[in-house]
Parts: sequence; structure tokens; C-alpha cells
Amino acid sequence: MIANRTIVITGASSGIGKSILEMLAAKENHNRIIAASRSIQKLTGFDENVTLFPCDLSTREGVDALFEKAAEQFEKIDVLICNAGAPYYERYDYEDWDRIEKIFSLNTFSCMYSYSKYLNHLNGREGHLVYTISAMGEMALPGYALYASTKFAMKGFQQAIRIESPKNLKITCVYPVSTKTNFFEVGDAGHKVEQPFPVQTAEAVAKATVRGIERGRKQVYPCPVYLPSRFLMNVLPPVRALYLRSQHRMLLRFLERKQNDEKRV
Ligand SMILES: NC(=O)c1ccc[n+]([C@@H]2O[C@H](COP(=O)([O-])OP(=O)(O)OC[C@H]3O[C@@H](n4cnc5c(N)ncnc54)[C@H](OP(=O)(O)O)[C@@H]3O)[C@@H](O)[C@H]2O)c1
Repeated sequence: MIANRTIVITGASSGIGKSILEMLAAKENHNRIIAASRSIQKLTGFDENVTLFPCDLSTREGVDALFEKAAEQFEKIDVLICNAGAPYYERYDYEDWDRIEKIFSLNTFSCMYSYSKYLNHLNGREGHLVYTISAMGEMALPGYALYASTKFAMKGFQQAIRIESPKNLKITCVYPVSTKTNFFEVGDAGHKVEQPFPVQTAEAVAKATVRGIERGRKQVYPCPVYLPSRFLMNVLPPVRALYLRSQHRMLLRFLERKQNDEKRV
């Protein structure tokens, strides 16, 4: 059980982060939590042990402000859960530096910068860093060229820091498959996105994440069929090709729907 700890969770206003927050904030756990996201103040029903801190974590100022708040409120952050993230679903066929920078700022730069901030904050004391990466950090799907790249970068980053980082820091990385959250509701400019198979719930990912933190796991794969499927696709490349082809058809359907919607407007 994760109890009597000081915890910071980013991206806690919805989806996976909100489910993790609800589990950790249960009264009997006596955790003290700072929950952050841009619209975090919309959450209600938490007691005084949960502080809602609004900030934009895709900016350096936002991350700095969160660490300042945590230092003000806690002597030490026992567990830092870097979970905030956002996708694009699209055909990558454009020139737009700012759009690339935007997704990397939130999904990658912010997480990398938070690692250094956390080490400085700990200053030799024990801490536990948790990253919500993605199964897409191991296998990119059509439609997610930039999103998957941000997560591949995090997969590489954690591999190196795991070896470099001082012994006082534990690192847990979580690799959810497609999860029922706002992710696919929002889609690109409001066009609904079909979820890649298999699909799991935010609660299942949160449960696996909390269990992984409790047990000090290095990697957490919340979907039980993911690792056998990954193995199968590695040893049988035609299975992988079939799966990727089906995902490509999904993207083509999405682009067609989007085009039809745009014609109607
Ligand atoms: N859903 C999936 O299929 C899936 C699969 C694998 C991995 N993941 C990863 O899981 C994590 C959580 O995603 P989710 O599925 O739970 O989606 P979600 O429901 O959309 O949650 C995303 C969270 O990130 C916050 N956020 C977005 N932009 C932000 C910003 N600039 N600054 C601060 N907070 C920001 C959002 O809150 P505000 O809008 O209030 O800022 C929200 O709380 C992400 O890192 C995602 O990459 C998701």
C-alpha cells in the first residue's frame, strides 16, 4: 500500500492520472498529494490532503512552478508521477516546426526536465520517479508518427538514466496500450478517433501503476496480452504486418471522415 507519502501527480484532471489520484487519495492511505494540470481546478470531492495546482507543463515555467509549490508544501516529494501527455492523430505530411515542438514540449521535454528538477530537489534523499510512457514507445502505429516519437524518446531516456542516476532514485515506467480516456474523445480538431486494439480502462492502468510503484517495478505493462502479442509480432513478422495494415486502414477511414466533415461545414 502506498501510504503516508507525499506525492505529485501530473495530468491528474482526467483519464489515467485522475484514476491514480483517486486511488492514492483514499482517506485511509493518509497520503498528501499535489495534483497538477491546466484545468485541475475542475476536480471536486477531495479533502485537504489533495492540493489542486493549475499549470501548463509544456512550459519550463509551468514545471518550475510545480516544483516550487511542492517544495513549499512538502519537505520532500516521495513519489513524482509524470503522467501528463497528449497525442496527435494525423497523417504526418506537413511543415510545422511549432506543432512538432508543442507535442515534444509536453510529452518529452517536460518529463526530461522534471527528472533533473527532481534529482536536485531530492539532493541525495530517496525518491521514486514514475513515467507514463506508452506501448507506442515500443511500437509506432500509423497516424501517430509524432506521438510515438515522443514516447520512443522517453523509452530511450529512461534506459540511460536508469544506469546513470544515483542510487537514491527508483524509476518506474508504465507502458499502457490504448486506454479509454479523453485521448480518443478529443481526436484531432474534434474528429473522433477509433482506438487501436486492444483497449483497456483507465482504472486498470491506474491499478497496475499503483501496484508497480508499491513493488518498486522498473517496468509496468498493464495489459496482460501486450507482452505475448509483442513477442508474437517479433517472431512472426507477417502478424505484425497484418496488424499494422489494419491500423493503416483505420487511419485512412479517419482521414476520409475528416474530409467529409470538413466538406459539410
Ligand atoms: N489513452 C491512451 O490510450 C494512452 C495509452 C498509452 C499511454 N498514454 C499516456 O497516458 C498519459 C495520460 O493520458 P490519458 O490517456 O489519461 O489522457 P487524458 O485523459 O487526456 O489525460 C491527459 C492529462 O494530461 C493533462 N495535460 C494535457 N496537456 C497538459 C499541459 N500542457 N499541461 C499540464 N497538463 C496537461 C490533461 O489535463 P488538462 O487538459 O487539464 O491540462 C489531463 O489531465 C499520457 O502521458 C499518455 O501519453 C495514454
